[in-house]
Amino acid sequence: MARPGTGPKLKPSEKGRLIFMQAFGFELKHGATVLSARTLPDLTPAADEVIIDVQAVGLNNRERMARRGAVPGDFNVLGSDVAGTVTALGRSVADITIGERVLVRTTHGDATQVRAPARDVVVLPRALSFEQAAGMITPGITAYRAVAVFTRLQPGHTVVIKGASGGVGLLVVQLAKARDVHVIGVASGNHRNQVLTAGADEFFAYDTENHVAALDGRADIVFNVALNGINGQDDVAMVRPGGQIISVAHREPYSDKPVQFTHIHPLAVPNDHTILTELVPLFADGLLKLPIGTLFPFTAAGFAAAHDLLPSPHEGRIVVSAADD
Ligand SMILES: NC(=O)c1ccc[n+]([C@@H]2O[C@H](COP(=O)([O-])OP(=O)(O)OC[C@H]3O[C@@H](n4cnc5c(N)ncnc54)[C@H](OP(=O)(O)O)[C@@H]3O)[C@@H](O)[C@H]2O)c1
Repeated sequence: MARPGTGPKLKPSEKGRLIFMQAFGFELKHGATVLSARTLPDLTPAADEVIIDVQAVGLNNRERMARRGAVPGDFNVLGSDVAGTVTALGRSVADITIGERVLVRTTHGDATQVRAPARDVVVLPRALSFEQAAGMITPGITAYRAVAVFTRLQPGHTVVIKGASGGVGLLVVQLAKARDVHVIGVASGNHRNQVLTAGADEFFAYDTENHVAALDGRADIVFNVALNGINGQDDVAMVRPGGQIISVAHREPYSDKPVQFTHIHPLAVPNDHTILTELVPLFADGLLKLPIGTLFPFTAAGFAAAHDLLPSPHEGRIVVSAADD
């Protein structure tokens, strides 16, 4: 795991609410989005909310687009996947205590403090570091929905997982394998060992092998969790008539055979909290694993470098961390 650069860490004071928070956001400057730190008033919770002292934030692909969304005058604080320590409680919050280690999927997480509804917060066991927790949130929720909500996986099914080496893909491999199906992973050749170690029975390299011809009509289900659901027509070729394509792509590919296409999308039921509550013990027990590739320091320079790395080829999850471990 790389840890590029160092710098002064912004540590919220022990006195919590007596200090100001730091937020790291994008703003438009001379036509380009530039990240900077701003000192803002400390957050106070609404009745049903908690305030979290953020210790780690995991970055996701969608932030590549979101950073471009800044309009003149905006200070666009990204960050959804947060782990940290609870520092303040709304007056109606009863089941969480101050000092508790937690994780949550929220908004405006690129900051020293974040607010979140108490009902969304999941307690973080000691066995999981803040970085591991922040790194698994969005890929975990997405992979869970792909495997356990949008599909009808049956033991004995053959599934093809495109993008099997990615954050979402590695978890789809592990969750699918646990359901006693035959897993075929597709990624670039240099990730062959990683995908097989995660549990795939077979592997095809999209960059050196003709996986589409080799897998013609073999899959009961194709999971396309590769970048933006790339090459959707290949998914049609690999799935059997009557099979299913589950994809991060929004657009359904043309198909000359009966195929069910499902776009992986957010759902009210099960909600993020329900899914994280199921996933966290699996990660804590080592039954699910997701490597962190690069850790960045919790500074403006750290957030800027982390967001700059996101669109470039990188290994494992990108996490910004204020923790000492
Ligand atoms: N809809 C949702 O709720 C939701 C939620 C989270 C993520 N997503 C989307 O899901 C996608 C994956 O996210 P992630 O975080 O897992 O990304 P990631 O970690 O960057 O992984 C991308 C994967 O795509 C593979 N890939 C790249 N080009 C490919 C090609 N031509 N053919 C086959 N595979 C290819 C990569 O393989 P190599 O690295 O081996 O080249 C890697 O396995 C992104 O588009 C993201 O925006 C959607």
